[in-house]
Formats: sequence, structure tokens, C-alpha cells
Amino acid sequence: MSLSGKTVLVTGAAGYIGSHTCLQLLKEECKVIAYDNLDNSSFESLERVKRLSGGNGNLMTSIEGDILDGEKLDEVFEANEIFAVIHFAGLKAVGESVSKPLRYYENNINGTVVLLKSMVKAKCKSIIFSSSATVYGEPKTVPCTEEFETSALNPYGKTKLFIEHILTDQHASDNEWNCLILRYFNPVGAHPSGEIGEDPKGIPNNLMPFVQQVAVGRRPELSVFGTDYDTKDGTGRRDYIHVVDLADGHVAALKKIAKENGKCGRIVVNLGTGKSTSVLELVGAFEKAAGKKIPMKMVARRPGDAAEVYAKTDLAYEILGWRAEKTIEECCVDQWNWASKNPYGYSGKED
Ligand code: NAD
Ligand code: WQD
Repeated sequence: MSLSGKTVLVTGAAGYIGSHTCLQLLKEECKVIAYDNLDNSSFESLERVKRLSGGNGNLMTSIEGDILDGEKLDEVFEANEIFAVIHFAGLKAVGESVSKPLRYYENNINGTVVLLKSMVKAKCKSIIFSSSATVYGEPKTVPCTEEFETSALNPYGKTKLFIEHILTDQHASDNEWNCLILRYFNPVGAHPSGEIGEDPKGIPNNLMPFVQQVAVGRRPELSVFGTDYDTKDGTGRRDYIHVVDLADGHVAALKKIAKENGKCGRIVVNLGTGKSTSVLELVGAFEKAAGKKIPMKMVARRPGDAAEVYAKTDLAYEILGWRAEKTIEECCVDQWNWASKNPYGYSGKED
């Protein structure tokens, strides 16, 4: 199924997953409207995406805009015939969401409602949404299947869960809507070129970017949160998915919408690898890729962390014909390539 010539509005396009997805969309010859308020990113990522796109960079237009700005979104929809929206824009720091819940509810939930209202006006009825494994809360068993009960442990998770409900209701109100809800597990790695990757502001919340910053000398050591879990080596296990595989999952979702001629309905699928890796195994793979030791100290568990979380991936394969291909070793090689070329991210300096 060709996506050539189809116009896709990508919110949060300049961010980590958005930038990698824009690149894969350009490779498919999509026309990309990259919309971002640059709250957690810069357009440097998309400049690099254009350069990596093998001459298709002119198919992408970057717009600095907020999803809370309905007028601006209306203008974008009026000026373009948009086939579908891929909605990445959102705030994602779990800890910050606890200290600033209103910022998260306003940005993520109100922002999505404003976006959906513009889509209704424009009669654009296809959306692919970035949900998260966080909606499984602390799963009672693994692997997580899409039928598991959902719950949220923090305001960030609640925004994801609530947006899922909003999309479900929107689809129920008009079954011409195509709402593809993708639940990502733990995205890591970078484009193999080392030109684009994750560039968190401040102290990283997540394991892989923290390990990366220790490796380049920006942090003295990694704190391993808990060594007494009921797992093989006592550390927490997660389902780490390469960001390029994840980006390809979005291309597969768009193809599904195109193939079914807009009649997919509401679909919820996990995007993960179906395998879990412990903190110590990930650090070991990273040390091998980087050829250096990562200093570590063992500390207490982080509240709210489950022992093991990984995805059941059959549904994504069945519905989208997609599955993750890359190993944790490849994730670490690509993460290190990005880190060593860009030790201080896109700006080149400490923030
Ligand atoms: P990111 O912060 O790198 O990208 C999000 C982008 O959205 C940023 O460029 C930011 O500037 C933009 N943005 C935020 N609020 C906006 C607004 N009001 N208007 C316009 N743009 C806005 O994060 P990411 O890792 O690329 O995540 C993308 C999406 O995937 C998010 O919705 C996130 O919650 C979700 N997700 C991420 C992970 C993860 O671990 N990275 C896991 C599951 C789900
Ligand atoms: C992974 C493992 C930690 C940091 C989070 C969000 C989730 C989703 C993905 C957006 C755990 C351990 C971590 C460190 C450590 N994001 N760890 N030292 O918690 O699975 O999920 O990101 O939707 O919502 O909650 O990922 O990378 O924070 O942790 O030992 O400095 O690494 O205990 O076992 P998590 P993570």
C-alpha cells in the first residue's frame, strides 16, 4: 500500500519519536506537516531529518504551533487536505506530572480536545495516538495484552488513559472515525546515522538516556533502582523497543488506514518487542557497545516501579503486519553512536 502523496499532520514532530517517524514518512514520500511548539525540542532535529531523507526533505513543512491553539490548527487544516494525524504532542515526565498535574491535564488532555475539534471541522477522521504501556499500571501478570484492565499511577498516565477514552467516545459518536491507539513500551536507541536521537532537557527520567549521559561524562554514575525484585538478577525488567522500529509501526498504522479506505474503526495495539531486559543486562549491552564501563550504585526501588513489564505483540502483527526487528544490542550500538557524535544533544552544550 503506497502512502506516496498523502499529507500527514504530525503533532510533536520535532521530539524524539516524532522526528524518527517523520523520517520514515518522508521515505514513503508522504507530505509531512510537522507541528510542534518546541516545548521539549528544537527544529534542528527536523533539519537533520530533511538531510537524511534522501532528497525528500522538500516534502516536509515545519510549523511552530501549539495544539492548544485551535485557530492555528484550523488554518493548517484549511490550507491542506490532511489524510491523517499522528498525534505525538504531549508532556511525558512522570515525576513532573505529579508536581504539576494541571500543566499535564491542560496540555495533554485539553490539547487533544482542541486538536480533535479542528479535525471534526475539517472532516479529517483518522488519528494515530501515542499511548503508553503506563496504562497497564502495575500489571498482575506479563506479557501485557491489550485486554488487560487499565489503570494509571500518576497524572501523566491518567492523561494517556483519559485520551484513550476520549478517542473511544469520539469513534462511538461517529463510526467513520479511525482511531488507532498505539501503546508504546520503552522506546530507546536512535537512527543508525547517529544524526537524530533523544535529547532530554535536565536530568533524564529514563534509564537509557541516563546511561548515555554517564557514558559521555555528564553524570558520574547510574543509580540502579532496586536489586531485590523477583527477577533473575534482582533488577527491573522492561520491553525496550528501538525507536526506528517504533516509527515503522506508525507507518504500518497509516498503511492500515489507507488500505481499509478509512474503515478501521477504533484499534488498540501494543508496540513492543515481546521480550524483557533487566537494568543490568541493558547496562552490560551498552558497555559492550561503548567499550567503556558505566559506574553504578545500587539504591532502593523507585516507588511505583513494577518488577517486569513486557508486551504481548501478536495483535500488532495480526492487525498491522508489523513487528519489532531490532535487538537490545542494536539499540545500544545506535544509542552510543548518537551519544558519541552528540554528547550534548542538538544544541551541543549543557542545558
Ligand atoms: P518528546 O518530548 O521528545 O516529544 C513530544 C513533542 O511534543 C516535543 O517536541 C514537544 O515540544 C511537543 N509538544 C508538547 N506539548 C505540545 C503542545 N502543546 N503543542 C505542540 N507540541 C507540543 O517525547 P517523545 O518521547 O517523542 O514522546 C512522544 C509521545 O509518545 C508523547 O505523547 C509521549 O507521551 C508518548 N510516549 C512516549 C514514551 C517514551 O518513553 N518516550 C513512551 C510511551 C508514550
Ligand atoms: C526502566 C527501568 C527502573 C532509571 C517510563 C514511564 C512510562 C513510559 C516509559 C511514557 C526500571 C530502572 C531507571 C534510573 C534505574 N513513558 N531505572 N535507574 O519506568 O519502565 O517507564 O518510561 O509513556 O510511562 O513510566 O522506564 O526508563 O524510567 O525505567 O534503575 O536512573 O530502569 O527502575 O526498572 P519505565 P524507565
